[in-house]
Amino acid sequence: MFNLPDYFEFFAPVKIVSGRKAVDNLPYELDQLQAKRPFIVTDKGIEKAGLLEIVKKAMDAGEMEIGAIYDETPPDSSIEVVNEAAKLFRENNCDSIVAIGGGSVIDTAKGVNIVVTENADDLSKLMGAEVLKKPMKPFIVIPTTAGTGSEVTLVAMISNPAEDVKMPFTSYRLFPNTAIIDPRMTMTMPPKITAATGMDALTHAMEAYYCNQKNPFSDGYAITAISMISKYLVRAVKDGKDEEARYVMANAATVAGVAFSNSMVGVVHSLGHAAGGVAHIPHGVAMAIFLPIGLEFNIPVAGKYIGELLLPFAGPEEYARTPEEKRPYRLIELVNQLREELHQLSGLPLTLKEAGVKEDQLEEIAEHAINDGSLMFNPRDMDRKEALELIRKAYEGK
Ligand SMILES: NC(=O)c1ccc[n+]([C@@H]2O[C@H](COP(=O)([O-])OP(=O)(O)OC[C@H]3O[C@@H](n4cnc5c(N)ncnc54)[C@H](O)[C@@H]3O)[C@@H](O)[C@H]2O)c1
Ligand SMILES: [Fe+2]
Repeated sequence: MFNLPDYFEFFAPVKIVSGRKAVDNLPYELDQLQAKRPFIVTDKGIEKAGLLEIVKKAMDAGEMEIGAIYDETPPDSSIEVVNEAAKLFRENNCDSIVAIGGGSVIDTAKGVNIVVTENADDLSKLMGAEVLKKPMKPFIVIPTTAGTGSEVTLVAMISNPAEDVKMPFTSYRLFPNTAIIDPRMTMTMPPKITAATGMDALTHAMEAYYCNQKNPFSDGYAITAISMISKYLVRAVKDGKDEEARYVMANAATVAGVAFSNSMVGVVHSLGHAAGGVAHIPHGVAMAIFLPIGLEFNIPVAGKYIGELLLPFAGPEEYARTPEEKRPYRLIELVNQLREELHQLSGLPLTLKEAGVKEDQLEEIAEHAINDGSLMFNPRDMDRKEALELIRKAYEGK
């Protein structure tokens, strides 16, 4: 039986251009959007890995001029970074934006798009849902991690260091026009970042399947992404040059992005955003630590859905031989096996302690977690005491 929600919306407006050498289509895609002087947002790691060079070559071949390049994006972008990049966009009369990087770069580029479109000088004056009214600048994203799915989402997570929080900017106008998925761009990712960002993508797909805005469309994307990630993440971590694994993972992260941009994410992200804001651990690492804990927390209210995920995650034989009531627990066992394997292969931390969080930060993380916006979409509410229990478990690993 299908439990259709009485009302739901689903929106996936980003054009996907995917394939080996897909980046070579960049000038054509910009031209389609009538863009002439793109502003490139990236970071030093991307430049060092030679990825900016691939894009520059593609632009040269298309005889299109780059207006300016901002390559100072730090991990976890902030309001000041966005304001500084927007200034460079304006000084160079750019007319469009190309983001080349992981979630930090993509979200910075979304922030820049807000500031330059609204002709403002400070992103913090443009906070709040749906304050953006003007059509945005043409915006193309080339993801280089297979994780956040930000290339197909309507959210930008931008930190406000003054308050140790990451603020979500959400608007239908923030969707990029085009996402270019090219396995060449993820091939240089080190094993630990591959593992962490892959766990972020897996978390998006799993949370999308039980969160309050789930619907038959988001379910389809979530299940497809889980099946892809469960078969290929370990391969991509083991051998970064495995092009097939890189290609599947790059697409899987985008598919998972479509799922959660519609169904939203829940308690794993509330806890993870809080740990990221307070202790500055990478988002994917936080997801890997909190995923089994969040799944277990949701079993009393969403055990049926969590159990169903055993099918895409472990295949039909495992699903068939596991009795229905045991399926959610078996799923968690297998997620833990995957985490262990990734830990062995790449050193991915499995506890908050291993990730460098200090015990005296746990209370503050709990306080932030119960105030995080994602909790609103989780099927089970969480109070401060429960949050602290889950965080302690994540700290000790038991
Ligand atoms: N907007 C959304 O929908 C959304 C969803 C989830 C997470 N996020 C945000 O995304 C951010 C995390 O993004 P991320 O996990 O993609 O990591 P990231 O962008 O912070 O990148 C991590 C590091 O990996 C390096 N790197 C990236 N790609 C590489 C490559 N191909 N080769 C070599 N090095 C490479 C970068 O230089 C950087 O040093 C967080 O701020 C998180 O809050 C946003
Ligand atoms: Fe995430």
